[in-house]
Formats: sequence, structure tokens, C-alpha cells
Amino acid sequence: MCEPHDHSLPLSENKNLLKWVEKMAQLTKPDRIHWVDGSAKENQELCDLLVAGGTFTKLNEDLWPGCYHAQSDVNDVARVEDRTFICSLSKDGAGPTNNWVEPFQMRKTLKGLFNGCMKGRTLYVLPFSMGPIGSPMSQIGVELTDSPYVVVNMRIMARIGMPVYKEIDKNEKRVVPCVHSVGMPLAPGQADVAWPCNPEKYIVHFPETREIWSYGSGYGGNALLGKKCFALRIASNIARDEGWMAEHMMIVGVESPQGEKTYVAGAFPSACGKTNFAMLIPPAGFEGWKVWTVGDDIAWIKPNADGVLHAINPEAGFFGVAPGTSMKTNPNAMAALSRNTIFTNTALTPESGVWWEGMTDEAPAELIDWKGNKWTPAIAKETGAKAAHPNSRFTAPASQCPTIDPEWENPNGVPISAFLFGGRRPSTIPLVYQAFNWSAGVYMGATVGSETTAAAGGVIGKVRRDPMAMLPFCGYHMGDYFRHWIRMQRGLTQTPRIFHVNWFRRDAEGHFIWPGFSENMRVLKWIVDRTRGRAFGKETPIGYVPRYEDIEWAGFQFDKAKFDELQMVDRAAWRSEVLGHEELFIDLHDHLPPEVIYERELLICRL
Ligand code: OXD
Ligand code: MN
Repeated sequence: MCEPHDHSLPLSENKNLLKWVEKMAQLTKPDRIHWVDGSAKENQELCDLLVAGGTFTKLNEDLWPGCYHAQSDVNDVARVEDRTFICSLSKDGAGPTNNWVEPFQMRKTLKGLFNGCMKGRTLYVLPFSMGPIGSPMSQIGVELTDSPYVVVNMRIMARIGMPVYKEIDKNEKRVVPCVHSVGMPLAPGQADVAWPCNPEKYIVHFPETREIWSYGSGYGGNALLGKKCFALRIASNIARDEGWMAEHMMIVGVESPQGEKTYVAGAFPSACGKTNFAMLIPPAGFEGWKVWTVGDDIAWIKPNADGVLHAINPEAGFFGVAPGTSMKTNPNAMAALSRNTIFTNTALTPESGVWWEGMTDEAPAELIDWKGNKWTPAIAKETGAKAAHPNSRFTAPASQCPTIDPEWENPNGVPISAFLFGGRRPSTIPLVYQAFNWSAGVYMGATVGSETTAAAGGVIGKVRRDPMAMLPFCGYHMGDYFRHWIRMQRGLTQTPRIFHVNWFRRDAEGHFIWPGFSENMRVLKWIVDRTRGRAFGKETPIGYVPRYEDIEWAGFQFDKAKFDELQMVDRAAWRSEVLGHEELFIDLHDHLPPEVIYERELLICRL
């Protein structure tokens, strides 16, 4: 029993799994197979291997206990949306917002790419559960990968290893097969590089057979297949078929001083501060209030037997953007990432610590930047070089977050009272408004827009439509997805209220009107009070809004005039806003549910 166990021996007795691993090994031709048990010992061995291979730098144990730094290839730094494919049987199934290739043809391409792609490497068999093991809301996958970096990251982001094999052997749940290769086989004697990858990348989903194939990248959502590929793109297909929802949403529990707890789930496009909002610390004037974190990125939401929507966070960790995260903006995230965390593409300090733009007011005197070059504030001033890549990340265990909700691993999820949508909008959109009802709320979510930022690439400052923040993550036709949202309400006994927030409205001088961060609690309280039937909402053409006196201002000075500017509904601006909605709707037109079309008409009438 106490023998060091031989990782080449299968850890599952499931015949289908054994056969599939064998078949994939025949295709990819690895030198060896390693069945991942998920133990701490195995994790340490893999981290040591990554250090020896130059992928990882072990950080200073006194400053950053249990932490590692990874530096990726300079061309493998983010999700590759233009190389992401939804290969449904029909092109119409994927819809106009997804890349589609005929599945037979794609399988041929993949077969060619994967043939021998793991030569010289180890194939890791990595079983994982999205959601707490044994929860009726969880789903299981097995990722075959040739990247030990993926294994150690997935150990933080999902539940992996022995307990998952047990679930698989019970044979009660369908397992989603995920195949991943960095796409860089090694010839005999060929030395490896620190971050193997391939300039040619494919992130492929087969929705009908629930399969994921990823080739060429080792980074984030391209490679940690439980996250965007499974928990959103494949899960959105499963959810549509089974009557639940897989959403790009954070989940928080708002607790009053009296102990009343209200759960809210919110969808925001990238660069809108979703992780900060998920870990909000109530401001002065809110003594006794608490905001608990259930999740920061993905929610699986299902009606329970009583017709009440319940949500789980399918992930076990945070894969957060590092730049901008600080003790001021998000002390809870800083605590979560203070130990047992993997940093990718941040800068390294001379003391073997990490640093990124925004972590401290003043940059350290000298750093090694994310590309491995010497960096000083003077060099940055001259060349504009960033110390950390704008998409550099921390992979941190959710359990380390000081505000992690005691209910976060409840197998039945937490009850959802409200949905929030938000975007980064410099004009037109008020700080907060509430949809008149569910279908108006679906319209609200379907028309979410956000100003493009430098991090997202493309033209800066243009509004990009990102329905429910799911544009890159919905695994089927967006019009059918809206229809699914409409349908979801029919079986419910309690309909969550739907709200839109915008922390980013600017005044005539271009300054943000609202301070954001902790002060967002004031908006959250109005939302909670509305869902509980306690707060006033004034009717406007776009929905219900709070008056100045409906917001709790204790501990904060904010002029009524400024608030009115924040909340202003400018009819002329809203008319062009509605025309903007049409830009996306034209593409989706033949799949749009009638409710969305009528909601648009009603909005135009009210304007
Ligand atoms: C993420 C994203 O990484 O939405 O969470 O891009
Ligand atoms: Mn996300």
C-alpha cells in the first residue's frame, strides 16, 4: 500500500474511459501515460518538474508560500476567439456569432494535427468535476493533456483526481471527453522549451457529442478545458437540452446586519470589474453588512423541485486578471492569492516575488518583466513596456478568499433572487435600473454592450454588443439562447428580478461620475430591497429607477445633482441606443424569440 504508486497504471475501472485513453494514446503517441491522482505529493512532483524544465520559478517561500511564477511564450497569452470553433452538425446550430466548420471536415483536420502530437511527452489523464463532487448539479470531464502546467492549474480550478474516478466508475453521469495538446512533439533527444506551444491553434467544440479538442496553446481558457470550453460552451448546450442555465456570471450573497441573506448573480463582459464586485467590501455606513463570494466567473443555475432557481459555482478557483488588483481595489483577492497560487506572465521582483501594474502605487525599482527582460520605471517611461502582461493571471484557490460563502459548496446551490447585467458605458446608461419583468430583462441582457478597452484589442471606445456577456462563450445560436432564457421563466414559482448597472458613466469632462468599488454596495442594497419588495422604484421608459432618497447614503457625501446626472434617461441618446441593438439583432433575426422583438417595439413606443 505504501509503495510510491505507479502513475502509469489506470486508476479507473470504467471500460469506456480505458478504451478511450488507449485510442487517444494510439493517435497522439506519447512516451508515457500518467493517471493523475490529484494528491499533494503528485502536485509537488509536477511543480518540481515544471521548475526543472524552466516553466516555473518557485517564489520566495517567506513572501509567497506555495506559489510559483510561469512565463508563457510571448505569442500564447490569451484566449484565441478567432481560433475557437463550435462544430455543430448544422452551421445554423452554431449561429452567426460563432466560427463553424463542418464537423466531419474538422475531425479530419484534428486527426492530422493530433497524430503523434505528444511524441516525447507524457499524456496526463486528468479527471475533473465541475461543481462539488457528488452534487446533482455537477458535471464530469476527463482532460487528456500533454501539459503538466495544465494539470497543476486544473488542480486549483476544479476538483480533480481520485474522488472523480470514483464518480466515473459509478457510471451515473456522462463524461465529457476533452483532449488537449500544446502541439509540440519532441524528436528523440530534442530539448524541450519552457513554454511549448504551436503557432497554429484550434479550440474546438462538438456540441452534439459533447467533446472538446484543443490544440496549440497552453494558456488559460484555451487549455484549462473545464472553464470556458466545458463550463460555458459545452454546458450551455447541455443546459439548453436539460432545462437549466450555464452563465458567465459571478454569484454573491448579500447579508444584512439582521442576518437576512440574498443571492444575486451578475454577468459582465471582460474588463468591467466582475471579480472585484464578487469580492466587494461594504463601505462606511454599512457596518454589519457582508457580501459573501460564491463565484467570480461562471454560474450553473437550475430550478429546484419547488421552482426556485439555485446556482452553483462550477469552479474551485479564481483565474483572475492580475493587473489592477491591489489591497485598495480588492483586498479579498489579494488574500486569496497570497499563497498556493500560480502566477502567469506577471513581473518578477529581485526577491522572487511577483508584481504587476496597479499592485502598489509605486513600482519597484527593478523587475524582470513578463518577457524575461530587465524592467525599471525609467525603461517603462521611455519604451512604454509593461512589467506584467495586461492579461497576466493568478490561479488561486477559492477556499482562500476571506469572504468565501459558507454555502459555496452546497451541493444544491444557493437560491437566486436577482440577475444583474452590466457593461462599461461612458454615456446613456444609468447607474442602475430594473427591468419591468422577465422578458424585458431578457431584452436588457440581450442588448448588453461594453466599451472596448485596450485589453480587448480592436478600436478603443466603441460599444461592442455582448449579450449576457456570453458572446465568446455561448455554444449555440445566440437567438436560440435568448429563447431558452425566455422559456426558463415558465416553470418558476419565483421569478428573479433583473437589473442593469453601469459603474462607468462619465460627465461632460470625461470623469467617472460614480466612485465604484465599495460604494457599489449602495446600489446592491437598493437591488436587494427591490427583490424583497421594500424599496421604491420610479417608472421611466427603460425600467424602474431609484430616486435619490431611495439610496442609502450613510457614510458618504454624494450630491443629488450628481446622482440625477448618473441616473438621467436621455430619450435622444436612447433612440440611438435602440438602433445599436438592431445591429446585432439583424444577424440573429430568424432565431429571435417574439418576446425580444416585441420588447424592442415596446421600448421604442415608450421612448
Ligand atoms: C475570463 C474571461 O478569463 O472572461 O474570465 O475572459
Ligand atoms: Mn470570464
